[in-house]
Amino acid sequence: MGVIDFHAHILPGADHGSHSVNTSLVQLDIAKKHGIDRIVATPHFYPHKHDIEVFLQRRALAVSRIAEHLNESSPKIAVGSEVMLCIGLERFSRLDELTIGNSNTLLIEPPPNDFSEEYISTVAVLKEQGYNLILAHADRYSAASVERFLSEGVKLQINASALCTLVKNRAVYDWIRRGQVVALGSDIHGSNKRAYRELNMAIRHLGTEYERIFKVTEGIWNSFKTI
Ligand SMILES: [Fe+2]
Repeated sequence: MGVIDFHAHILPGADHGSHSVNTSLVQLDIAKKHGIDRIVATPHFYPHKHDIEVFLQRRALAVSRIAEHLNESSPKIAVGSEVMLCIGLERFSRLDELTIGNSNTLLIEPPPNDFSEEYISTVAVLKEQGYNLILAHADRYSAASVERFLSEGVKLQINASALCTLVKNRAVYDWIRRGQVVALGSDIHGSNKRAYRELNMAIRHLGTEYERIFKVTEGIWNSFKTI
């Protein structure tokens, strides 16, 4: 069994997670030292702010800059994005280019405090269109809001930090128990070692539950093309 980091900002210059190839290489080195063998690179994409063409070009350049430094022992990387969920996202014509590793899996990030039913309608249409939707850092949202997404068939990614707090977030453990959490992520920005230390700590806390989550994550990972 390995460790899959399903949410990481590690592509140089693709967003604020890494400003240089050097930072990305440090991030990958920290990941490797903590036993992370697969990483989903998820630079932020804000449909209301970003030009898709500019974003894709910037991401492709970042991938090519990092790819030349990868070797057999580097963590494997699948490229996707963390897409801000906007009302009307279902009409965004190039959404399929933002999925992870040319699969149908899309990591979505709802806005912090707005869960009007229009967002749920958008999600329902995206599901009909065949997207496997995963809610990024579900631990950041209210339990009631997450339940609305779950009722539409959205699955959850949890940030490792949410499993390392002194006071347990009961909702998170409830989603894990119900099998709704399909992936863990570091959400690493910059080269702070804490992100991967917490991912290891979260795995230890989860014990056998981690094996169950990992099997599901790996099943999804197997549908990804890697760089
Ligand atoms: Fe993120």
